[in-house]
Amino acid sequence: MTIARRSLILSGLALAACGKQARGQPAGAAAQPLKSLAPFPIGCAVKSDLLADPAYAALLARHFSQLTGEWEMKMEYILRDDGSFRFEAPDRLAGFARANGMRLFGHTLIWYAQERPAFARIDGAGQGFADAYRNYILAVAGRYPGQAVGWDVVNEPVAENGEGLRACLWSKNLGEVGYVVRAFEHAREADPQAVLFLNDYNLEHNSRKRSTFLRLAEQVLKAGAPLGGLGTQSHLTVDTEPGAVTAAVRELAGLGLPIHVSELDVQLKPGVLPDREARLRRQARLYGEAAEALMGLPARQRFALTVWGLRDRDHWLRRGGKPEGPTLFDDAGGAKPAFAALAEVFKR
Ligand code: XIL
Repeated sequence: MTIARRSLILSGLALAACGKQARGQPAGAAAQPLKSLAPFPIGCAVKSDLLADPAYAALLARHFSQLTGEWEMKMEYILRDDGSFRFEAPDRLAGFARANGMRLFGHTLIWYAQERPAFARIDGAGQGFADAYRNYILAVAGRYPGQAVGWDVVNEPVAENGEGLRACLWSKNLGEVGYVVRAFEHAREADPQAVLFLNDYNLEHNSRKRSTFLRLAEQVLKAGAPLGGLGTQSHLTVDTEPGAVTAAVRELAGLGLPIHVSELDVQLKPGVLPDREARLRRQARLYGEAAEALMGLPARQRFALTVWGLRDRDHWLRRGGKPEGPTLFDDAGGAKPAFAALAEVFKR
């Protein structure tokens, strides 16, 4: 059976499983817990302020076995302009994860997009910069020993078009590959057990970017750094080509490391396809394909599938005002066809 045909059946099943599709989505709070169906950890990206909403907290704890800090474990939150650190929010995330028996996944230690003033001030300082870089990673990656199951050590290192690596403050001071190697070495020094990931996006849509990403991973391994897994963010849209996710996961898995589908969401792109139900069906197929792709790997390579936001209303694009609906649950916490599609795949 082709991927297209199987996913067509899947989305039909997903719609049926959701009962009357129209408005009344079945309450996610009553649906069978995804985490009990999945043969690998199911994660969700979380901002700590949302944990104060009892409905949110209950839905999150019911369905997910892993928690990723969506924003508050990043340098942008932790590193103050005066160089001091703050951990109130990540500690709240870690506390919730611990209280609910969820694995904690750290995102992210080093990212080109977060060149904070405390580092910009020491740009070019040589050993001083290198020492501050190591100290930051030791402090953050060393905060949750024995609880953090993994870290995105370096996020989005590959150039947007896939041609080479991004130039950033880190590469300028520590070398194009050097900053990556050092980050993994410092993270291992901080946490002897966590699985250490390289993470990037558009690996489904850009095969050149995927090749460059894999080449970097090989360079990091060759340098003897403790790269332990590859994260493919998987920010998709309803016009993502069927099979693209499968091809990406298969090629990334070829290196032999665990794979984390690390930030899965599927934007509905209002205006694409004739109507919302067609877009919800397409969304369901893509969520199902991502789960199937991970299921198709040897068990030791199925690290986790993490969705990037719990309910549509919580998604970061909505906070930016986009009329989007990229998650498994609608604004009221109703399970969408995408939820049913995941459950169908896991039940097989
Ligand atoms: C986003 C968060 O969801 C937002 O809350 C934050 O304001 C900006 O970053 N790829 C990544 C994530 O690796 O860290 C980004 O998360 C989304 C794109």
